[in-house]
Amino acid sequence: MNILGIHIGHDSSACLVHDGQIVADVAEERFTRTKHYAGAPLYSIGYCLEVCNLTMNDIDMVAVPIGGSLPALNFLLDLKGSRQEKRSRMGRAEQSVRRLLKKLRAKPPVYIKNYPLPDSVPIVHVDHHLAHAASAYYTSGNTEKQLIVTMDGSGGEVSTVIWRGENGRIEPLQEFPNEGSLGWFYSNVTEALGWWHGDGEGKTMGLAPYGDSNKARGVLDRLCPKFSGGQLVEPMQFQGPFVWEQGGALQWHFDDAYEIESLIQKYGREHIAAEAQFVLEEQTREIIHPWLEKEKTRNLTCAGGVFLNVKLNQRIWESGRVDRHWIYPNAGDSGLAVGAALYAYHQAAPSAPIGSVDSLYWGPEYLEKDIESVLKLRQLPYRRVENVEEYVARQLAEDKIVAWFQGRMESGPRALGNRSILMSANRKENKDIINARVKFREAFRPFCPSLLWENRHDYLEKARDEFFMITSFTCKENKRDKVPAVVHADATLRPHTVQKKFNPRYWALIHEFGRLTGEPLVLNTSLNVMDEPVINHPREAIRCFYDNGLDLLVMDNFVLSKNHC
Ligand SMILES: [Fe+2]
Repeated sequence: MNILGIHIGHDSSACLVHDGQIVADVAEERFTRTKHYAGAPLYSIGYCLEVCNLTMNDIDMVAVPIGGSLPALNFLLDLKGSRQEKRSRMGRAEQSVRRLLKKLRAKPPVYIKNYPLPDSVPIVHVDHHLAHAASAYYTSGNTEKQLIVTMDGSGGEVSTVIWRGENGRIEPLQEFPNEGSLGWFYSNVTEALGWWHGDGEGKTMGLAPYGDSNKARGVLDRLCPKFSGGQLVEPMQFQGPFVWEQGGALQWHFDDAYEIESLIQKYGREHIAAEAQFVLEEQTREIIHPWLEKEKTRNLTCAGGVFLNVKLNQRIWESGRVDRHWIYPNAGDSGLAVGAALYAYHQAAPSAPIGSVDSLYWGPEYLEKDIESVLKLRQLPYRRVENVEEYVARQLAEDKIVAWFQGRMESGPRALGNRSILMSANRKENKDIINARVKFREAFRPFCPSLLWENRHDYLEKARDEFFMITSFTCKENKRDKVPAVVHADATLRPHTVQKKFNPRYWALIHEFGRLTGEPLVLNTSLNVMDEPVINHPREAIRCFYDNGLDLLVMDNFVLSKNHC
């Protein structure tokens, strides 16, 4: 059974689920090169069909997480008559998004290829939070009863939903309206700090450990909803949102940010960031712990953009209340296509087993001949290196900065060794060098490590299998000065543990680096520069390479160097 998942909205995306397995998944921003692109995912659908060698005639079902721009489906799938999407199941915030996309009701111009859906193929609509819940539950690999928590800014005018996952079914237990949105609260602080709502929240989280929340304790309380005993006890009347489109992406503003900005003037940026993080963690605890008790389970499964906050996830894990904690790694809205498709599959096949996820390499791949032809066309000097893993390990041991491009692109926001920039983490100053020379971003921003799965207990306190950089852990004390470039101000690191069977080339590189330096761990950051989506195509990798201070670009076995080393 082939199910095409289509998400249209913030972080538009498409996926292909074949007999319950995710076989392709990509966000449209990787093709349009506009971060958080919100238009119709034309390229993503084309990619999903092509990589699986399918046409629309091979699709058994289309699954859609209900969003703010369903009429765009008419254009994408060439829907006619009664099949046309007209209904409005959205609130005020999403209606303003819909108005922006109204023009897509019209038929496309002849030069744009869309994907006519045969009349017999059903379209399954899955609510926004249910799609988030399904993305996590049906990939958890856990057949026991679970508490599922989905937390967003807002989806379908709902901010947070508590679910029970049991016997392959997902059942809602409690939902909270937008007035309970911890996501909006955190994003408002992010806006007040001068960063984009729905984009810069990771910066707020990165800044927080430099501050002391006690120095701003309580000052954000009136700007945040309050929970107690698993219930919303003080709703927050948010002053917004005001939504507009910029360059194909949706942007948000809340007037609450003005008040927070004045608090920042008074108390300091890092202390307000620290307090925002503290409030988020405290309030989330007030939601999750009582529901774990009520449901009598120690299995927690999460999705929704708020769970991209790795410090929050660490706090939940270290609470001791959870034995199994699974967060769908593509927790934000680009994971909705997968969630909707998995939900549709398990509705159609109720006795199908709950799946698990080994890797996120579901994006486009470029073969050696494709890469070489891109290099030749541009008349670039390059050479082919046979043992490229050993070669790159030696370069990293000499503190070179290497762009590492191979295989299928990662789904979700994290680079996991296929579209990565690598550097040795063994010198503290490497963090500043890479921030200043390559990523062009704020000096406080931390970097994360990729390390061999076999060595996880050498580096991580309370380690668990964590393959997708979705939770931070405290770094073992004896390792903090061994890999200082990836240890954050609060002595944590956010690891990607690498298993040989899922990425043998990358594993071999790190293994060799460990043999040379004693630390089987490298600094790994996504292959892009600030405010740009992760790189997809070799030509974008080349453009990135010559646009910043990278030393080497390695694409499969081809090596480009600025120093001719
Ligand atoms: Fe969402």
